[in-house]
Amino acid sequence: MTAVITGATQGIGKAIAERFAQAGFDLFITARSNADLIALKNEWEPRFKIKVFMKVADFGKKSDVVLFAEYIKSNTKSVDVLVNNVGQYMVGNLFENPADKLVEQLNVNLMSAHYLTSALMPVFQAQKKGHIFTLGSLLSVRLRESAANYTISKHALRTWHQLLFEYAREHKVKATMVLPSSTITASWGDQPNEEEFIQPEHVAEAIFDCYNLSGAAVVDEISIKTISKKLE
Ligand SMILES: NC(=O)c1ccc[n+]([C@@H]2O[C@H](COP(=O)([O-])OP(=O)(O)OC[C@H]3O[C@@H](n4cnc5c(N)ncnc54)[C@H](OP(=O)(O)O)[C@@H]3O)[C@@H](O)[C@H]2O)c1
Repeated sequence: MTAVITGATQGIGKAIAERFAQAGFDLFITARSNADLIALKNEWEPRFKIKVFMKVADFGKKSDVVLFAEYIKSNTKSVDVLVNNVGQYMVGNLFENPADKLVEQLNVNLMSAHYLTSALMPVFQAQKKGHIFTLGSLLSVRLRESAANYTISKHALRTWHQLLFEYAREHKVKATMVLPSSTITASWGDQPNEEEFIQPEHVAEAIFDCYNLSGAAVVDEISIKTISKKLE
């Protein structure tokens, strides 16, 4: 079994990759830091008795995403799970950042998922099975004016997922959108109330359980919130 996880060296992506590794999946992982990728490969291959394929890529660049897809296809004939996890958070209201920053945000948060999924879609179609997870956010369904570009990109990503869901089901391929609220990762810095946040492992477990749902059932969307309302 093979899982592809983007942005797999930190936070939610790392927890998801580790969950599938624990279950014996071979992994294809990517991030911008080569050192982080090598460290995980060296840790996980002996620990979980799996193969970890890794490739550096900047998901803000189409050419890097396409090369990652080619790397996957040249090393495996089947892909069971794809997790479109890469995402960057950008603060600023609608006109606070230079206009190009919206393009940057759309490239990393939306277009990278489209480029990678479209490159792997022929593999899924040929298999007539597979599961594609995409990390949205609570801000895929809410507005945060102080993070306008991020909000736009995550809303667009949800619409993209909804169209993917309809396309994929025609080929017996499952697609699930995950909408976490505040999840404690390095991007939050030090927080005195870490235990009030969602932990990356919670998101990973929800995805893994959803993947294991048997037969014809498919979860379209998972919304994960914190019990603490002030963190939304
Ligand atoms: N944390 C939250 O509260 C939260 C809430 C809702 C949704 N989400 C979503 O969940 C996903 C993961 O978030 P996270 O908080 O776990 O992120 P994170 O801790 O910042 O980790 C991001 C991962 O993606 C990689 N990455 C970042 N930018 C990249 C780029 N341009 N090209 C390639 N790799 C890149 C990072 O490695 P390198 O730096 O080495 O590239 C790292 O492995 C994102 O889509 C995010 O929007 C997060």
